[in-house]
Amino acid sequence: MIEDDAFGPELRQLKRDNQELGARNKKLAELLKSSRDKLNSLYGQVEALAEPASTYGIYLAPAPRGMEAEIYTSGRQMRVKIAPTIAPDALAPGMLVRLGDGTVIVEACGYETTGQLVTLIEKIDGGRAVVADTQGTEHLVQLAQPLVDQARAGDTVLADLKSGFAFERIAKTEVNQLSLEEVPDVTYDDIGGLSSQIDTIKDSVELPFAYPELYRDYQLAPPKGLLLYGPPGCGKTLIAKAVANSLSQRIGDGGQAHFINVKGPELLNKFVGETERRIRLIFERARELASDGRPVIVFFDEMESIFRTRGSGVSSDMETTVVPQLLTEIDGVEGIANVIVIGATNREELIDPAILRPGRLDIKIRVSRPNREEAADIFSRYITPDIPLADTPEALIAAAVDAMFAPRPFVELSLVDGSTETLHYHDFTSGAMIANVVDRAKKLAIKDHIAGAASGVTADHLRAAVRAEQDESEDMPNTANPDEWARITGRHGKRVIAAEVLTDPVQ
Ligand SMILES: Nc1ncnc2c1ncn2[C@@H]1O[C@H](COP(=O)(O)OP(=O)(O)OP(=O)(O)O)[C@@H](O)[C@H]1O
Ligand SMILES: [Mg+2]
Repeated sequence: MIEDDAFGPELRQLKRDNQELGARNKKLAELLKSSRDKLNSLYGQVEALAEPASTYGIYLAPAPRGMEAEIYTSGRQMRVKIAPTIAPDALAPGMLVRLGDGTVIVEACGYETTGQLVTLIEKIDGGRAVVADTQGTEHLVQLAQPLVDQARAGDTVLADLKSGFAFERIAKTEVNQLSLEEVPDVTYDDIGGLSSQIDTIKDSVELPFAYPELYRDYQLAPPKGLLLYGPPGCGKTLIAKAVANSLSQRIGDGGQAHFINVKGPELLNKFVGETERRIRLIFERARELASDGRPVIVFFDEMESIFRTRGSGVSSDMETTVVPQLLTEIDGVEGIANVIVIGATNREELIDPAILRPGRLDIKIRVSRPNREEAADIFSRYITPDIPLADTPEALIAAAVDAMFAPRPFVELSLVDGSTETLHYHDFTSGAMIANVVDRAKKLAIKDHIAGAASGVTADHLRAAVRAEQDESEDMPNTANPDEWARITGRHGKRVIAAEVLTDPVQ
């Protein structure tokens, strides 16, 4: 006890020291451990850095021996092993794969999402397709799995031309930009005054669709195309639309005819070969649509803007290559009975004659200006009993036609043989003008209605409308160019040497 007491303070000090040292030791041990861990992880990182980088490749096909594959990587084709961690059905041709150490496929990474945009020209067997790049060079590529059913001619697709795969359809279909595919709602009944033209069209275009067996028996090829020509605003575009509509009705199974309405000027492109490529695309699309057996109408409106006579010097290289491209395509639809090309123009003399020769757009239909009876017929499509009228439609139409065809000299032409010819306003009548006259008369009637005189459309409204329409007619050609007069009136033959606009005696 005494000893204890004697050593008491020292002993206590030693115990404290011992405890302290123990704690410090523990701390050091922890520090050491954490340092070792850190070092280990750094070692790991250094090791990882020393590992070769992963490369990527495109999976092409399974190799004949299991767990091996053909891939395309760094510009060459290789046969590599597939890591056992990868399920065999996780890989599909065209997929991006990551390659581990020793060039083993270690990961399937979906499909390439960036690359070159090309246009699909045609699908062929074996899930392959012909595509064209922006230079127009054609390549044969394999379609990646998701594309096989989806893609169609004219689509823009994402491709890697080196590995030879197309991966994805890009929502930028070129054909859709160039053309409209719809069935118009215009019917033959909406068209006035052109019954003989409509009959010709029915005979030449619709019969072959209605009686294909008869045409086969008589070994008569259905026509490939027709050209509607004539002065502006007389119903050419209208007829083309009605043909498409009528063919749709004929099919009768609820299916529709396809109507590819090509916007002429949009086909033009300043780059060499681009217009031709677009024409090819449109026909490619037509052939594809035709493959289900329904009629396909390819309609070129304002045809003279694209298919001018070669050598006419309007645009040097354009006609020399664009026209032959169209010829090739029209000749190419030969094997397909249900594609028909309809062209419309008001400058038929500018169109290359090769396009119009037999076997191509060989049915030529003149859509001319309406005479009195035809004008009355056109009026009857617009003055109908279901709108407010002050009189019977017949009486109003008679009044309108009388006003329209009243002699009203407009221009005096001096012809080359010394004679003169006077043209009247009614020589420039068109369906478009008649439609507009009725619109004007309706506006006058509405104005009167608002002012308190609710009578409906009267004969006076129509007369005033005819007068206003004639005064403002946009069809009136430029007096500086006498030839234009002959063309507009449709009186070819005699050369016009001068044209004098007559002052209006009625005013
Ligand atoms: N025969 C017609 N019967 C009824 N409406 C007509 C007739 N002709 C023209 N129209 C009217 O005029 C409009 C223009 O006609 P359309 O577009 O068919 O003329 P177009 O002959 O194609 O002229 P362009 O040569 O200027 O293209 C039509 O939308 C229609 O309202
Ligand atoms: Mg037109």
